[in-house]
Amino acid sequence: GELPEKTALALAFESIAGSMTDAVVVPEGYTAQVLIPWGTPLNSMAPNWSADRQMTPQIQANSVGMHHDGMYHFPLNDADASSDFLLSLNNEYIDQGALWAPQGGATNASSGVRPADEVRTEINAHGVTIVRVQKQLDGTWTHIPNSPYNRRFTSATPMELSGPVAGSQYVVTAYSTDGTKTRGTNNNCASGYTPWGTYLTCEENWPEVFVKDNGREADDNRLDIPTGRGRYGWETAAGDPSEVGGEFARFNATPRGATAADDYRNEPRTFGYIVEIDPYTNTRAVKRTALGRFRHEGCWPGKLVEGEPVVFYSGHDSRNEYIYKFVSDAVWDPADANRAGGNYDRLAIGAKYMDQGTLYVAKFNADGTGEWLPLTADATTQDGQRLSSALGLADDDLAGVIIHTCDAADLMGATPMDRPEWGTVDPVSGEVYMTLTNNTDRTAEGTDPTYSNGGSDIDGLGVGYASAPVNAPNPRADNEGGQVIRWREPSPEETTFEWEVFVFGAAATDSDNLSGLTELNQFASPDGLWYDDRGDGQGILWIETDNGYDGVASYTNDQVLAVVPSSVSMNEGDAAVIDASDQAQLKRFAVGPNGCEVTGIFATPDKTALFINIQHPGNWPADPGAIMQPATNAASGDVRPRASTVVIQKADGGQIGV
Ligand code: FEO
Ligand code: CA
Ligand code: CA
Ligand code: CA
Repeated sequence: GELPEKTALALAFESIAGSMTDAVVVPEGYTAQVLIPWGTPLNSMAPNWSADRQMTPQIQANSVGMHHDGMYHFPLNDADASSDFLLSLNNEYIDQGALWAPQGGATNASSGVRPADEVRTEINAHGVTIVRVQKQLDGTWTHIPNSPYNRRFTSATPMELSGPVAGSQYVVTAYSTDGTKTRGTNNNCASGYTPWGTYLTCEENWPEVFVKDNGREADDNRLDIPTGRGRYGWETAAGDPSEVGGEFARFNATPRGATAADDYRNEPRTFGYIVEIDPYTNTRAVKRTALGRFRHEGCWPGKLVEGEPVVFYSGHDSRNEYIYKFVSDAVWDPADANRAGGNYDRLAIGAKYMDQGTLYVAKFNADGTGEWLPLTADATTQDGQRLSSALGLADDDLAGVIIHTCDAADLMGATPMDRPEWGTVDPVSGEVYMTLTNNTDRTAEGTDPTYSNGGSDIDGLGVGYASAPVNAPNPRADNEGGQVIRWREPSPEETTFEWEVFVFGAAATDSDNLSGLTELNQFASPDGLWYDDRGDGQGILWIETDNGYDGVASYTNDQVLAVVPSSVSMNEGDAAVIDASDQAQLKRFAVGPNGCEVTGIFATPDKTALFINIQHPGNWPADPGAIMQPATNAASGDVRPRASTVVIQKADGGQIGV
């Protein structure tokens, strides 16, 4: 007989108006519930959070961390996968005002010596939270205090290094003289996951917690390790800067000893990686160095094909930085999939697919084609040199190439992008989407005459940080709207691709509103992104924003938008897939409270609950358990704003979005 015709997936909610209130706003018929805000106790070692609670290292180490960002869900069993799972959550950075509100702010926040216990508390507010969450009979969600799975990884937690950099001279420190270990993960922004049931947490703005006053090397400058004082002055808690002992000396990377094994000159080289965490067992986190070293926004697996390599996509979120792809040496064995739950050695599978392989960087051509340029020691640069030699490294020094990933990418001729943030993959077609959030250092002709993408740091800003000229995937100067790009590859291991801009962000009234957005879907600075596969080769692309552009920010707070990609297509002559004729297809689904960015996103497997995160709200009570539809805030100054997860559900229990 004939196959039934596919029903076209369609969004079944009305695009909501912009909002500038202390509330999470969702369409009619939906609810939004606060879950696990910052400071929620994970176990009996921490008391309940309260507005006057003085945080301590002990309380913060046993409570949900601050400034929620990327997250993912890990089922405990198939039957309850949509109602009972481990939530793995990044705690990207801190708001010292909210953290230290009861004592009137951080002590010596910007000058002088920080007290050790404040630094310990701040370190413990960063990292990753793993917490078991459950849907209750009344349809609301709760976390499970004292679940043995509840766990924190902080900026002090011991971690392993693996892959080409592990055990190399580049990561020898006084803490790990064989270069195999480090302490902490930092500024974990977007998340990722693997097909074998582990979490990927990604180190983004980590350079800022270090200082290095002299003895600086090329990568310290390229990645902007500060001089003078770190972001929070953690290094000052170590006392005498010439000392290398104690728990805080590692934040000062200035050489002080005779050799690298005597100090922390290499400590920043133990950061900038994709970190793999097994949420189910009490194993150590592993930094997978083969996936490159930079300000990693996130990391997402490509389409899985049996017998072909496993690939991961990753972006470097800085102006005029690059997009990367890692291709494993090992080929995909479907027996490694779905290893969720139980006492299984998932990190051994991680080692199989993530420790040996080839890292590539993307070059986008103006004709809609692109190529992946290998970052191997023997690759040939655009000037015809061996890459290792061009970097001043020994012939087969792959560890050195990875330490200098960004300079290597410059030398190969990668395309500087408008701040790559989140990516996501349609698991059926293999199409990859990535947000390019904005770029204030993009000019029409590269007006900064010192700009060079050829590997020489002429202006001392680091190659790639100076003003770059517009190019095909980044065609707007002083780009405040940002864009989402899409590409497809013939197969996972291919080094060519085809690309197009999917949608340009803009204010509806902008002259460069290239996707023809209207008041009902105008947005800027796309950041979070998730392709929500709904079967039959169809799905919903969810776009979250982190917008500082007045053209849109004067109309609405940060938001979540939705579009079914199969409902829009590229028309001849259009700048992007979404154009003026597609405005009904791109809808505003949710708006966050004042001051926040909206980030982190996934739906439960049954698609009845969409989880998002509200980061750095300005004045939002995030009352645990409150149904925030509509959220109301008394706007009292004595309430400390709390980043939080928010669960969006339909009042009738149906699937989200449709
Ligand atoms: Fe942490 Fe690039 O956002
Ligand atoms: Ca981000
Ligand atoms: Ca951002
Ligand atoms: Ca179109």
